[in-house]
Amino acid sequence: MAAPIIYRDIETPNIRSLAVYREKGGYKALEKALNDMSPAAVVEEVKKAKLVGRGGAGFPTGLKWELVSKDPATPRYIIANAEEGEPGTFKDRPILEQIPHRLIEGMAIAAYAVGAEEGVIVCRGEFMEPARILREAVAEAEEAGLLGERIMGKDFTFRVWVYRTAGAYICGEETSLLEALEGKPGMPRIRPPFPVNSGLWSKPTALNNVETFSNVPNIILEGADSYSSLGTEKNAGTKGYCIAGHVNKPGVYELPFGITLRDLIDNHAGGILDGRQLKCVFPGGASSSCLTPDNLDVVLDFPSVAAAGSMLGSAALMVVAEPTCMVEVSLRLARFFRHESCGKCIPCREGTCQTVRLLDGIQRGTGRKGDIDEILDLASVVRQSAFCGLGQACINPVVSCIKHFRQEFEEHLEGRAACCRKEEG
Ligand SMILES: Cc1cc2nc3c(=O)[nH]c(=O)nc-3n(C[C@H](O)[C@H](O)[C@H](O)COP(=O)(O)O)c2cc1C
Ligand code: SF4
Repeated sequence: MAAPIIYRDIETPNIRSLAVYREKGGYKALEKALNDMSPAAVVEEVKKAKLVGRGGAGFPTGLKWELVSKDPATPRYIIANAEEGEPGTFKDRPILEQIPHRLIEGMAIAAYAVGAEEGVIVCRGEFMEPARILREAVAEAEEAGLLGERIMGKDFTFRVWVYRTAGAYICGEETSLLEALEGKPGMPRIRPPFPVNSGLWSKPTALNNVETFSNVPNIILEGADSYSSLGTEKNAGTKGYCIAGHVNKPGVYELPFGITLRDLIDNHAGGILDGRQLKCVFPGGASSSCLTPDNLDVVLDFPSVAAAGSMLGSAALMVVAEPTCMVEVSLRLARFFRHESCGKCIPCREGTCQTVRLLDGIQRGTGRKGDIDEILDLASVVRQSAFCGLGQACINPVVSCIKHFRQEFEEHLEGRAACCRKEEG
């Protein structure tokens, strides 16, 4: 299936340039919005399209924009979250590098809808090349009168900046991103207030993921009904599914919400590597609970994956085949979160360290009886008391691995596992 929305025309040579993007109909949606629609009508169309955020939480985008547009405070801001920090997520980068004008056009339409005059694309620290490409695209759009003052001759001004944060996973969390953008350490703010009312410089801010904005030109140009003809009742449109790990064809696939996990693995990602047995899948990246082969027929949209006991998140599917050791997988994920915990609150700062310590002992076969249950107790405390989403979710993968593969943890603990290492250090 050709990419219908977010990656549409991405194969076209030099679609990165403004000229080729415009030849393919680029900026026609912005033109339509400015000429034929009021800002409120744009918000209504996005609401009608049932667009939900692609950054992880699946929050309705039209509602977010409505909240921003109705806040009397000014100035208002548009922020594109281009952090893409979840391990296994690589769906935004193709947009940033190959079709950056789709993002810029989506942001400009959002700015018109909420009454913002400034926008920032916030990239992760490591995204040096995407940031360079984006700056070039912004300059091209300014030169052509598609950004700046009196865009397309209308009483509409919108400018875009590109900013790189320091390169920490937590900077993808929206309030940490705002802190970083304001020049402070990237650590979460207390919520509420939410960014819709108190975002950048405490002003109303529509902060969305790159993929979310990239859906908007299609919604405006082709209409909400056409857009929502793809997808499911609750989640319309398509999703950039990233699939990695033990599959024959890892990559990013733009497919409608509503396909099954089985369909994605078998028919798009080429099935499990080397004909091995599927062991489990983390459907929403490193912070999601794993699903087992019993869940292969789960429909991929936010509510269905949640009902199956996990989360779709940024749709970074990490596929694990037999005979992978799940204690090793848990330990690696736990080490990632120990490293990325920002340290602001004790439950996460200490909890991630203690989880690694306990798992390390289990893996080496040097742990104590009761360590597995101690991890589960610790997890419930961290989940309930951590300050932000990182701490609340980081324990999910470990808990789910224990739930589904407890026997492997016990074998390790008792020194019976074949892959158990006894060495010190
Ligand atoms: C620890 C953590 C990391 C996050 N990282 C990202 C990220 O890299 N990119 C992203 O778009 N959203 C990320 N989010 C979600 C954002 O906080 C926010 O919900 C999202 O950018 C809103 O955009 P959307 O409504 O379009 O999804 C993260 C959330 C948490 C808790
Ligand atoms: S939960 Fe973790 S990442 Fe979030 S504020 Fe606390 S220490 Fe920082």
